[in-house]
Amino acid sequence: MPGIALVGTQWGDEGKGKITHLMADQMDMVVRYSGGNNAGHTVIVGSETFKLHLLPAGILYSHIVPVIGPGVVVDPKVLLDEMDALEARGVATDRLVISGNAHVIMPYHREIDHLTERRLGKMKLGTTKRGIGPCYADKASRIGIRVQDLLDPKIFTAKLEVNLREKNLLLTKIYGRLPMKIDSIIEEYLGFADRLTPLIVDSVSVVHEALEDGKNVLFEGAQGTLLDLDHGTYPFVTSSNPIAGGLCTGAGVGPKAVDRIIGVTKAYITRVGEGPFPTEDRGSDGLEMVQRGKEFGATTGRQRRCGWFDAVIGRYSARLNSLTEIFLTKLDVLSAFDSIKICTAYQYNGQKFENFPPHQTIFHHAEPIYEEMPGWRSDIGGAREWDDLPENAQNYVRRLEQLVGAPITDISVGPEATEVVRRTI
Ligand code: GDP
Ligand code: IMO
Ligand code: MG
Repeated sequence: MPGIALVGTQWGDEGKGKITHLMADQMDMVVRYSGGNNAGHTVIVGSETFKLHLLPAGILYSHIVPVIGPGVVVDPKVLLDEMDALEARGVATDRLVISGNAHVIMPYHREIDHLTERRLGKMKLGTTKRGIGPCYADKASRIGIRVQDLLDPKIFTAKLEVNLREKNLLLTKIYGRLPMKIDSIIEEYLGFADRLTPLIVDSVSVVHEALEDGKNVLFEGAQGTLLDLDHGTYPFVTSSNPIAGGLCTGAGVGPKAVDRIIGVTKAYITRVGEGPFPTEDRGSDGLEMVQRGKEFGATTGRQRRCGWFDAVIGRYSARLNSLTEIFLTKLDVLSAFDSIKICTAYQYNGQKFENFPPHQTIFHHAEPIYEEMPGWRSDIGGAREWDDLPENAQNYVRRLEQLVGAPITDISVGPEATEVVRRTI
């Protein structure tokens, strides 16, 4: 089966958008299987930069069928605005396929996301406030509204009534806000249906037919492994399963549908939002990474927290995702350093942890054990072949793959599509 998975191995923003672009030539279909418009994937095509949030990056290529799978949560207004913005730039969006089983982000989800964060105060998660968590919560509670419900005004209205009865109590009694009015929501959401109707199909069959026809299907991950609801740094995670396993439920295929699982991995590590981060560098090195790596969120514009490569996380991700290979990104950013640190294990209470700790307290208080490697201190943006890289950069890459346990097959050395070292050994 010619399915390929592309997953983030850290806390998101590893450069998945760029890698999707690099693979686009060989792909026939690109499927988003989890998350929603909390994602921000930057794709640079020639002189144009696109920041995609909800649409699969495959939308940019006329030969690719882009699919929003059942595991995605869809904010219809964001979807249509994103499609309009692309159309205005000459990108056709009418090939888009949307699963009727995907859940719909409603106005109360966004509002509750805001209010919950405020209520949590110091304990807040630092969400993107796009309503992602509350929407997935309703899905799990079985009161969610699905994309297919937009096609049936009677069912949509009935489900909305049930939801608003509860949500308005929450908004007024707990949060002291005004209740939401059903009529305006019905008018707005059913208004979206006209445009969305032709795009809503049985996406699972569409994906299976493509696989059966021998078409190349890329499952484009959003977020990253440590943001996974079950395996990430809970509660500082998103509410879906970005790991490779998530594509089975999120797209509706079995695990045998993919034979390559590519882990997109930054040569250092970043995180947006709250939560533990053992190798975070709040000093000048972290700031250097922010500046050289332009580490500002593509969705919320927040400055990303930066730190050294964490091989404990790398190993954990390689296992969780059954990575067959790693696409290493942003190696050029490390050209700034005389010496580069790699976290090989953690220390806590006199104990050493080489694997991801089983208890969150340990991870919260983990002290990284570092080894240091000499930097290369030269511009590597022009490197295209393995031999173009300075020896110290080669040694760094070799050491990472040794520690993580998966081969690094390609290396990105700049934001542009051409800035890539294809590794042959
Ligand atoms: P995604 O969410 O995984 O698609 O990643 P983002 O697009 O949110 O963030 C990655 C950022 O790094 C984007 O601004 C990319 O243009 C940029 N980028 C990707 N690869 C490289 C690279 O190898 N070097 C540098 N300097 N920037 C890169
Ligand atoms: P891409 O696809 C980085 C983070 C948020 C927050 C946590 C929960 O661009 O890699 P949510 O709004 O999902 O409930 O927020 O998850 N987060 C991301 N961080 N990249 C992303 O996506 C993210 N999507 C969510 O910052 O910490
Ligand atoms: Mg991003």
